Amino acid sequence: MTVKVTVTGAAGQIGYALLFRVASGQLLGADTPVKLSLLEIPQAVKAAEGTAMELDDCAFPLLRGIEISDDPAKAFDGASVALLVGARPRTKGMERGDLLEANGGIFGPQGKAINEHAADDIRVLVVGNPANTNALIAQSAAPDVPAERFTAMTRLDHNRALSQLAAKLNVPVAEIKKMTIWGNHSATQYPDLFHAEVGGKIAAEQVEQEWLRDTFIPTVAKRGAAIIEARGASSAASAANAAIDHVHDWVNGTPEGDWTSAAIPSDGSYGVPEGLISSFPVVSRNGRWEIVQGLEIDAFSRERIDASVNELVEERDAVRALGLI
Ligand code: NAI
Repeated sequence: MTVKVTVTGAAGQIGYALLFRVASGQLLGADTPVKLSLLEIPQAVKAAEGTAMELDDCAFPLLRGIEISDDPAKAFDGASVALLVGARPRTKGMERGDLLEANGGIFGPQGKAINEHAADDIRVLVVGNPANTNALIAQSAAPDVPAERFTAMTRLDHNRALSQLAAKLNVPVAEIKKMTIWGNHSATQYPDLFHAEVGGKIAAEQVEQEWLRDTFIPTVAKRGAAIIEARGASSAASAANAAIDHVHDWVNGTPEGDWTSAAIPSDGSYGVPEGLISSFPVVSRNGRWEIVQGLEIDAFSRERIDASVNELVEERDAVRALGLI
């Protein structure tokens, strides 16, 4: 059956890197035809039409139609996957409250439209920043959709952590298992090497503690800024790649003996307040994310997880005070 995939911010740079991969079958697999729905703001609809022309010109066998709209009700109608990429970026002089409010004006109505029009099996991935809190806003506007269907992306951070560690140890990325990003998709995130394994042995024991603390953690956490500095634009192809990875694994499952990272609603595990959309070590089974249980958290990790989770609590309290959730 053809699956409708809605992408917001479709005319943006992540959209441009993402849509072709969805249409080629990399999101849901080579057996699943897709119909793309592109949601944009009115000023960007024309650009989205241009991208749609290029999608046509690829003659992707799995692509069974493209719709373009500036109306969330139409764009999410019958959608089974929603990739919420379009967001209001922080501009000069903008306070956090202004940023959260502007995004509330986007993710609230989109959550409502998902609630009213999406398919029963809708899965939502929020990419647009501040991703975790935008996901919370959309979720709270969609009371009829199971809360667990709203997730935010930390897979790019996860992939960055894999790549940094692989380079340090001079091993292929595929030899690294059980990497975890904890907390918020922000500079406070905590990439955890105390449970990651390289060649079956704990990664933290194979690197110097100074490197882990002073190089690895800040390099992963600030990689987005380093890309902007180098490229003059924020991560786009790598962000699109991570979105593909996230939804692919959510739908198709994570490999045995490994896990990944995703920001999903907390069930209270690891002391993360219930309901907060925070990044955890997760596996996907039967189309559902499950938090990996029973990991021992030492004082070093605890302090860093708490710092990032506290930031999420502050963001949640700020959007609550603004009446956005
Ligand atoms: P961009 O500025 O190139 O594109 C954003 C697009 O969203 C624009 O075409 C804009 O017209 C559209 N848009 C704005 N409001 C909209 C609305 N209400 N409905 C539909 N479309 C709307 O930005 P880019 O580079 O594609 O990044 C998108 C977002 O992804 C940003 O918030 C960025 O911070 C975030 N991001 C998140 C990452 C993550 O790891 N979670 C990684 C990289 C970027």
